[in-house]
Amino acid sequence: MATVDENVVRIFDTTLRDGEQSPGATLTSVEKLEIARQLALLGVDIIEAGFPAASPDDLAAVQRVAREVGTPDGPIICGLARAVEKDILTCWEGVKDAAKPRIHTFLGTSDIHLKYQTGMTREQALDVIRRAVTLARSLCEDVEFSPMDAGRTDPLFLVQACALAVECGATTLNIPDTVGYVTPGEWGEVIAQLIAETPGAGIGSGVIWSVHCHNDLGLATANTLAGIKAGARQAEVTINGIGERAGNTSLEEVVMAIATRPHYYNTRTNINTREIVKTSRMVSNYTGMHVQPNKAIVGANAFAHEAGIHQDGMLKHASTYEIMTPETVGWSQSKLVLGKHSGRHALKARLQDLGYNIEGDALNQVFARFKALADAKKTVTDADLQALIADEFHGPEEIFRLEDIQVTCGTMGMPTATVKLVQTDGETIIHAAVGTGPVHASYRAIDDVVKAPNELVEYSVHSVTEGIAALGEVTVRIQPPNSERSFGGYGADADIVVASVKAYLAAVNRMIAAQGYGERKPEGDAATVEIKQVS
Ligand code: KIV
Ligand code: ZN
Repeated sequence: MATVDENVVRIFDTTLRDGEQSPGATLTSVEKLEIARQLALLGVDIIEAGFPAASPDDLAAVQRVAREVGTPDGPIICGLARAVEKDILTCWEGVKDAAKPRIHTFLGTSDIHLKYQTGMTREQALDVIRRAVTLARSLCEDVEFSPMDAGRTDPLFLVQACALAVECGATTLNIPDTVGYVTPGEWGEVIAQLIAETPGAGIGSGVIWSVHCHNDLGLATANTLAGIKAGARQAEVTINGIGERAGNTSLEEVVMAIATRPHYYNTRTNINTREIVKTSRMVSNYTGMHVQPNKAIVGANAFAHEAGIHQDGMLKHASTYEIMTPETVGWSQSKLVLGKHSGRHALKARLQDLGYNIEGDALNQVFARFKALADAKKTVTDADLQALIADEFHGPEEIFRLEDIQVTCGTMGMPTATVKLVQTDGETIIHAAVGTGPVHASYRAIDDVVKAPNELVEYSVHSVTEGIAALGEVTVRIQPPNSERSFGGYGADADIVVASVKAYLAAVNRMIAAQGYGERKPEGDAATVEIKQVS
């Protein structure tokens, strides 16, 4: 096994797998590919691109990321697999074309999971781990094993499971606090004890210890950092901390804690921190999950100083109230103000600074929208441009496209909306409906045309910048009947009814495009699917 550089914490990004498990965060394969490209630019060491056995779409998306982002100088591309033969084989199909593929297999090891989820004894669990890791290792040189719910697993059994996984060929041991149960002090002790006591996996063995924490008690970052302090050299994280329930550890918080306190953590990461804000914005736009303004590092207020005494200190020296500069994490300090007199070149240059290389027709399209916005609101900010880009280029496949919308509303008469939608085959449909307000009327008109029943489970609107002429951003989440799956959509426009309609149509298109828009889950479970003995 290769030697481990103890000075580096590897950043394992699971935005496309655990992050995508956030309600409504379903991403199209094009969006996944773009996020993966951005993660590579950000410098993550490993991308967990998905759970290939979950559906044929997930498999195809992982394959695409493996082929297009998994280049020799790019990140390791990893897929997740339950400890069952079918998942592991499908996972290998997903990642094998990457220059550096990894299979990540897992099994619940806590007594709670063994008793209630898989119905296995500890002995049976060890047998499943033996077969799964051996199979994975027969296919791929890089194998990660996770004893799921490690935070509630008997530490002695954890040592046994990890030792067995290493014996069967695991190269990374990832210790997940699946339900966000542990506290930093005890988690540090668990990791230190595992490293010291797991046969074949101590310092110098070549095995990499990893931590994967959930945020149910708001402790995910603290627990991850405690694990790193105790010797873990891989951190599993997501952008903006999105993920199951209360989410995962956020990449930006762990990376900036290590960067800001190098002498305390005595280690570093390979992350290009200047790409953090852009990546955060991309993930937020594509998933429709807003970043709260007070979110560390990437929230809109993370570097805003309101109190007079703070502003006074900042004017004297930024170090009085800032522990890192906003530019270090990619907040732009551009002095270039774009407005209605700015030309195509200025726009193109600003977009390039923001990381978007847009030319030709696409540039013309953005320029037209930029001009319309600049006419209305004098100065166009970076946030406005990012919202325009997200709105123009990052929706799902347009099965129905909005051509026009007209609404009448107010206190007299019934709010009415007329929509003109164009289908992929070019057919144009015009339809009108009434509702309790202009958004309701528009959504009803769309529903009558697309005939894809759903419930609107979330609708939010906010302005990208301050001022009466600001761009409005709308995100929605809809759910088909009898399904736990939900679909998000995003739209931006100076007219919030238009933004609302774009967001809704994006979510509807995403729902229709998802095969049969039913549940997405792999067949069988760990208890019933048997792994054949691998010779
Ligand atoms: O939270 C968890 O336990 C997981 C595993 C699959 C690593 O996501
Ligand atoms: Zn998880």
